[in-house]
Amino acid sequence: MSASERLRQIRIGGLVPRHVAVIMDGNGRWARQRGLPRHAGHKAGMRSVREAIEGAIEAGVEVLTLFAFSTENWQRPRPEISALMGLLRLYAHREKAELREQGVEVHVLGDLDQLDRGTRRAVDDIVRSTAGGDRLRLNLMISYSGREEILRACRRLAEEVATGARAAADVDEEAFEAHLFTAGVPDPDLLIRTSGEVRVSNFLLWQLAYTEMYITPVLWPDFDREELFEAILDFQRRERRFGRVSAV
Ligand code: IPE
Ligand code: IPE
Ligand code: MG
Repeated sequence: MSASERLRQIRIGGLVPRHVAVIMDGNGRWARQRGLPRHAGHKAGMRSVREAIEGAIEAGVEVLTLFAFSTENWQRPRPEISALMGLLRLYAHREKAELREQGVEVHVLGDLDQLDRGTRRAVDDIVRSTAGGDRLRLNLMISYSGREEILRACRRLAEEVATGARAAADVDEEAFEAHLFTAGVPDPDLLIRTSGEVRVSNFLLWQLAYTEMYITPVLWPDFDREELFEAILDFQRRERRFGRVSAV
């Protein structure tokens, strides 16, 4: 089935996930299969990022969240980290004008204090340049850890309670979510993980409570909008019960 046929099926299918999150995995394996260094896989993965964004816009997805670099990824060899940061800077410089034109509002979420100055500047720049885009919100998760995000929210709530700004009894889901990086964003409806690994790898631990999971063996550099549409079609065949019983 072609991309346009899949898109037509999605429109017939009805409900499009408002928020799609993606664990972009398999760059290293893609490179190894071709006898290339790992960074060549990361570079090739940039095209897939473009595909995912354009596909999300075409399908009518409102929020796309991409896991680009985890806190644990800081433990990779120095040269690989440098290559990834270099690609992030390149991406920010090269894509910001087009993203703005497409109406994509970029948010970069994670422990950004860990970034070197040049990368931090590039990140701030793409966020500033794309502010106000109203077709798609793109969350790039960089130096991100789900557990750290939860702890950060706990610390902030503890401070509010300690200073008397909030009563302990008022620490509810709404208050908690307001302190997450994703404050104000609906939880992901669909999580896609490429490269066949069946694990969450410390991604959006709070937000994934009732997210539908879609695991594909496709390696991230081979991912394109057709794959995204396939995942959305699969999502449309699911029955989400949220702990309740079937509607029928
Ligand atoms: C995903 O690809 C990109 C990042 C985690 C930054 P990997 O680099 O994890 O590729 P594999 O899993 O080794 O194939
Ligand atoms: C998850 O991929 C992180 C990103 C995609 C950025 P990893 O390759 O780091 O995860 P593990 O090590 O396979 O769990
Ligand atoms: Mg990996």
